Amino acid sequence: MKLGLGTAALGRPQYINVRQETCDNSNLTEFRKQSFLVLENAYNSGIRYFDTAPGYGLAEELVLEWLQTKNDNSIIVATKWGYTYTANFDANAKVHEVKEHSLSKLNEQWNFSKQLLPYLKVYQIHSATLETGVLENKAVLEQLYFLKREHNLKIGLTTTGINQVEVIKKALDLYIDGEQVFDLFQVTYNFLDQSLSEISEELQSQNKSIVIKEALANGRIFRNKKYPHYYDMYTILESIAKKHKVGVDAISLKYCEQTIANSIVLSGASTSKQLEENLKINSFTLTNSEIELLNSFSISPEFYWSERKKLQWN
Ligand SMILES: NC(=O)c1ccc[n+]([C@@H]2O[C@H](COP(=O)([O-])OP(=O)(O)OC[C@H]3O[C@@H](n4cnc5c(N)ncnc54)[C@H](OP(=O)(O)O)[C@@H]3O)[C@@H](O)[C@H]2O)c1
Repeated sequence: MKLGLGTAALGRPQYINVRQETCDNSNLTEFRKQSFLVLENAYNSGIRYFDTAPGYGLAEELVLEWLQTKNDNSIIVATKWGYTYTANFDANAKVHEVKEHSLSKLNEQWNFSKQLLPYLKVYQIHSATLETGVLENKAVLEQLYFLKREHNLKIGLTTTGINQVEVIKKALDLYIDGEQVFDLFQVTYNFLDQSLSEISEELQSQNKSIVIKEALANGRIFRNKKYPHYYDMYTILESIAKKHKVGVDAISLKYCEQTIANSIVLSGASTSKQLEENLKINSFTLTNSEIELLNSFSISPEFYWSERKKLQWN
């Protein structure tokens, strides 16, 4: 199974997305119950890779609770450190999350996340950028390397923004005791922002794991009146989807799976229904000419990320 499950939308009632309508997640008990069910349905459908983070509201806690019901060493949990969730489940919160790439934040968040062991196999810097200086912070890198050796973890980072490739290249050059620190890269990739393809072969040749996030471009692949510049893309996507008897979500996820070999593609499903739709990637294969067509939707990372910045917590 190439699909993994991301838990951002399962832990945070408000998430950054293009939504057709605002959803009512004000009943937190109900929200939690539904999210738990999505985890269980994902597992029953064969998904074994679960991505979480302390920045995703109650997600880490939920995954931990759900793991208590399992005894299966094929489950892989990946978490992160570096963002603190601050919205307190309030849609009108002024600040939803705070980023801090310090050694004290790493230690503080590890103290909670270590409870995910032994399922925890991947530990990532959440949104590593050149600006936070995290890739130059010797104390942080040494601590990550220590955790890698101590708990047999893959150390990873997630990237965001126009210079994802630059961040990955810099990370590949970081060694401690003659060994590369980073083993895994979680990267935004979809047919709108294809920049990962510049470095994916290099990553594979160095035996690194690639995890793809935001395969649905935060909902931008779905027809929406607010994005008239994507009208031609919507029409083509819908016709490919119709041909394969799936939704445009499955087409977009499949594109990622087929164009980046050996990657894990994260579903960001917020409901069991969406998960079921996303899982239809297992029912078909895109032809080369369909992939060519999807390749042609590429836009510049500058445009992609300027649009992404305007999305709301909703
Ligand atoms: N490291 C990072 O900085 C970072 C950032 C983003 C994501 N991630 C990880 O990557 C995972 C996936 O990425 P993502 O959630 O941001 O992006 P995504 O996959 O691009 O978008 C997911 C959203 O698409 C909508 N969707 C999915 N299936 C659908 C369907 N069949 N029909 C209609 N809408 C559908 C849902 O929106 P609605 O809920 O509005 O319906 C869902 O929340 C996350 O859960 C997280 O684990 C990491």
